[in-house]
Amino acid sequence: MSTRSLILDYLKKNAGQTSVSGKILAGRFSVTRAAIHKQIRGLRQAGYSIVGKSRCGYRFEASENILDVRQIRSALSAERFYGHLEYHPVLSSTQDVAKDRAFHGEPEGTVVIAERQTSGRGRLGRRWISSPGGLWFSIILRPALSPRSIPSLPLVAALVLCRTIEEVVSLKAGLKWPNDVWIRGKKVAGILAEMSSESDRVQWVVLGLGLNCLNSVPSDVISPAGSLADLTGSRSVPRQEILTKFLGEFRKAYQRYLMEGFAAFRADYRRRSVLIGRDVTVNTSTGKRRGRVVDVDGEGRLVLRLSPGRNIVLSEGDVVPGSLRQEGRGRDGD
Ligand code: BTN
Repeated sequence: MSTRSLILDYLKKNAGQTSVSGKILAGRFSVTRAAIHKQIRGLRQAGYSIVGKSRCGYRFEASENILDVRQIRSALSAERFYGHLEYHPVLSSTQDVAKDRAFHGEPEGTVVIAERQTSGRGRLGRRWISSPGGLWFSIILRPALSPRSIPSLPLVAALVLCRTIEEVVSLKAGLKWPNDVWIRGKKVAGILAEMSSESDRVQWVVLGLGLNCLNSVPSDVISPAGSLADLTGSRSVPRQEILTKFLGEFRKAYQRYLMEGFAAFRADYRRRSVLIGRDVTVNTSTGKRRGRVVDVDGEGRLVLRLSPGRNIVLSEGDVVPGSLRQEGRGRDGD
């Protein structure tokens, strides 16, 4: 175990009591006080709240807003799937790091998490503002599937995220096709999928998830964003629980997806759709389409009614939100 982890454990054991001086820590771990100070700075950068007062020492403040990667690892250890989980205080983009790892052969189940991203990316080349307090992470996957089936994979991840948010923070969450999570008319999460493939074989997929938790969100009138802190009215959002639960549930869903495809998730996805029944404009790579969303098909494509009896299916596009349903459709619409 590294000196940093040992210091953290020691401070945690003493949390709630009086502070521990730098001198005591230095003696205990046989390093200089300057080295202790450096390690404390590293722990703070990693998101731990360690209060320090001159001549008093350091005290760990427990916080449910913290991401403790060791705890996440140990909670997921039975999963085996997530063999390599890395956490960075700051990255340009978790996508870039995960893609680089995938390119160099890192196995499926590798997760790259950042507290902050300086060049976070969204779909369609948009910027994704990623200040501290959100959940920004990317997962490497190596599905033995045809590249054609991959567009529905992020829909499954969005569905699992939707269920997770509902379970952990008790807010009803809906899905805006293809893979945005909306709560009370605001986008709280988005997913970016990037892939490398040969003509009939996927080499890797990197799924990048961004969830606004405690971070400040940009105000954007076209796609209004919200955070879980705003929507719950509480500054304590259990990010670690959300991340751990999501990863556990996503692993199960992914394995089911490999066997049964999107069809296994379609009913729940449709139920949570904020678009079905709405008149929308979809900006696609081949132009604008206007119509009423009537369905999401078994391959995760959007079914748009252009006029009575004339439906088209779209496998890509950006739906311009008009007035969206507040959340999903409810069971009776299924
Ligand atoms: C979107 O809705 O446009 C997708 C947003 C995806 C953002 C996440 S945050 C973690 C990962 N790293 C990135 O740079 N982007 C994704």
